[in-house]
Amino acid sequence: MVFDIEMIKKVYAALPGQVGETRKLTGKPLTLSEKILYAHLFNHTSHAFRRGEDYVEFRPDRVAMQDATAQMALLQFKTCGRDKVAVPSTVHCDHLIQAQTGADADLEKALSVNREVYDFLGSISNKYGIGFWKPGAGIIHQVVLENYAFPGGMMIGTDSHTPNAGGLGMVAIGVGGADAVDVMAGLPWELKMPKLIGVKLTGRMSGWTSPKDIILKVAGILTVKGGTGAIVEYFGEGADSLSATGKGTICNMGAEIGATCSIFGYDDKMAAYLKATGREEVAALADQIREHLRPDAEVYAAPEKYYDQVIEINLSELEPHVNGPFTPDLAWPVSKMKEAVEANGWPDEVEVALIGSCTNSSYEDITRAASVARQAEEKGLKAKSEFTITPGSEQVRYTVDRDGLLANFDSIGGIVLANACGPCIGQWARHIDDPSRKNTIVTSFNRNFAKRNDGLASTHAFVASPEIVTAFALAGRLSFNPLKDTLTNEKGEQVMLDEPRGEELPARGFAVEDPGYVAPAKDGSHVEVIVSPDSERLQLLEPFPAWDGNDLKDLRLLIKAKGKCTTDHISMAGPWLKYRGHLDNISNNLLIGAVNAYNDQTNSVKNVLTGEYGEVPKVQRAYKAAGIGSVVVGDENYGEGSSREHAAMEPRHLGVRVILVKSFARIHETNLKKQGMLGITFADKNDYEKVQEDDIIDITGLTAFAPGKPLTVVLHHKDGSSDTFQANHTYNAQQIEWFKAGSALNLIRKQFAG
Ligand code: F3S
Repeated sequence: MVFDIEMIKKVYAALPGQVGETRKLTGKPLTLSEKILYAHLFNHTSHAFRRGEDYVEFRPDRVAMQDATAQMALLQFKTCGRDKVAVPSTVHCDHLIQAQTGADADLEKALSVNREVYDFLGSISNKYGIGFWKPGAGIIHQVVLENYAFPGGMMIGTDSHTPNAGGLGMVAIGVGGADAVDVMAGLPWELKMPKLIGVKLTGRMSGWTSPKDIILKVAGILTVKGGTGAIVEYFGEGADSLSATGKGTICNMGAEIGATCSIFGYDDKMAAYLKATGREEVAALADQIREHLRPDAEVYAAPEKYYDQVIEINLSELEPHVNGPFTPDLAWPVSKMKEAVEANGWPDEVEVALIGSCTNSSYEDITRAASVARQAEEKGLKAKSEFTITPGSEQVRYTVDRDGLLANFDSIGGIVLANACGPCIGQWARHIDDPSRKNTIVTSFNRNFAKRNDGLASTHAFVASPEIVTAFALAGRLSFNPLKDTLTNEKGEQVMLDEPRGEELPARGFAVEDPGYVAPAKDGSHVEVIVSPDSERLQLLEPFPAWDGNDLKDLRLLIKAKGKCTTDHISMAGPWLKYRGHLDNISNNLLIGAVNAYNDQTNSVKNVLTGEYGEVPKVQRAYKAAGIGSVVVGDENYGEGSSREHAAMEPRHLGVRVILVKSFARIHETNLKKQGMLGITFADKNDYEKVQEDDIIDITGLTAFAPGKPLTVVLHHKDGSSDTFQANHTYNAQQIEWFKAGSALNLIRKQFAG
């Protein structure tokens, strides 16, 4: 048993009481999301929270991390002094395997190329009580659904498609590595109380329509921003008719509309999936508190009263959809695709059809797609497109292989890729003669932004269900409508494809020889974390130094950034991703994308010690070597974008002492605070203009640093004049302690040291 039944028992024992209290507190019937959120508050509350307004601290039950984001998260965790993670946590090696020729060869190559990363993740997981899923074990979200997700639970995962676990009734939210560190260290995890969007599903699907089409339709209605800051809660008889894995697909792709997460209420389909995946005990426990794992009856009766927005979809009328290109909210019913292809001039030829991934590789998905593939032989058809299959986990792969389904794909030329992200995240060495040629691919994945799958701007990627993608592979055309159109077979006859048939769960049960799981040591104190001292990709972290108790004096200006300065400008992605586990190496990208207000150039700032211009990281390293602290000055909404903690760690590591801006993006501001950095704002935004390139800067008032009390900035200009003005901050008492200790993790370490 890899899941933690004791933790689930605890959650279920407390839930009925917590739901009752929450009803009293809010004075109304509850949606499912509210039941789960209030049951996971970090501290007891005596008042209800305002949705979309209040920031709330939560205590999630689990953490899941994928191998790209886990590196820095675990390096940080290691510095907090705990001997074990505070909540059950897992690491999944899925992102670093490149699809090139096929599962076995690709996995073998990844094992050698990424060896040091895997050795590190395996050893540190072993040490700190973290479950480790080896390369080839599967994709994080599928593995979580098969093993860990449980109705009524709350988890965070360091990947944007973590909400996949909503298919089993869990509030599961994608976060950055810094949030994972907090929860593993036992700190509260903060989130703005989400708004709630209710999606009522009526009727029943049939024929070619699948759960994928529900989310493709919802994406078309709500668009890529429509779910921002909201949980999307599905309900209605149509919802209860969907398999748990189908629900998972819908929740997974809720990320495409920007939703915090998506969720379904507990039902018989979830119970069946829990039982089929070896979790009879969880199903039995959930059955006992079923009413608390679904919205209250009054919510079903009058959803408009309880959700901020309600959408209704009649599944009986829903057509299969194809979404794209370049954005997942461009939704086309398959019957309109021919017109759309002609009107927009998209390449009609489907060059590659790809099924599977974390989004759509359930037993049901594979059986339905395989039933289409089987028809090729019976009807004398051949696949016209290249065709790949990405199983979501070794358990799924083994089971569908045992049941002869992979052979069906093989018979039409399908290539089975490793149980990993591969082309879904751009880890795909695509074979294409002319990379600049406009071309079309169709996937059953979730995202289709330009360049996402193969790095080519010329590729038009469309998203559809696995069975529709398989039909496109046989037709080789995007304009093909399998519900109406015929195909010409080898004998020149016109044939039609039959409706796909699937099985929700394997009749003979799931099977697997080696699921790829490594349980951690019971006592990890003797385990050594493996990091080679000369590694370029990994570096153990030294705790940041504590504040010395004095005001900050004689600082130099590193850069006065002008205009937009996102986390991408502060810590660029792309080729730098490989250094995510090596703070010193990745720090060589510090602020290289920011525009210097004095020369309008990027990565060119004045080294006031020499008077010469140089690259930002080099100039900062020169200040650090000279023992001089520095200040970064920024414009509005500094640090918007991703929650990447590197954007806060890099300046801290290189000796920047203060980030002084007109305004902060909230997550970045919190990240700076966690790293012990001083992040402050101009009380009068016009003071931004007073900062000059050669200034020597003091920040005073720190000895009386207190919530709500402004600090003072003194600029000593080169001509001997000076300017003094106020700077505001949003540090609360706890965050001031982080600053004093040098970082939030330092403070925890102090607590654990006694
Ligand atoms: Fe993300 Fe991997 Fe799925 S890249 S979308 S977790 S297949």
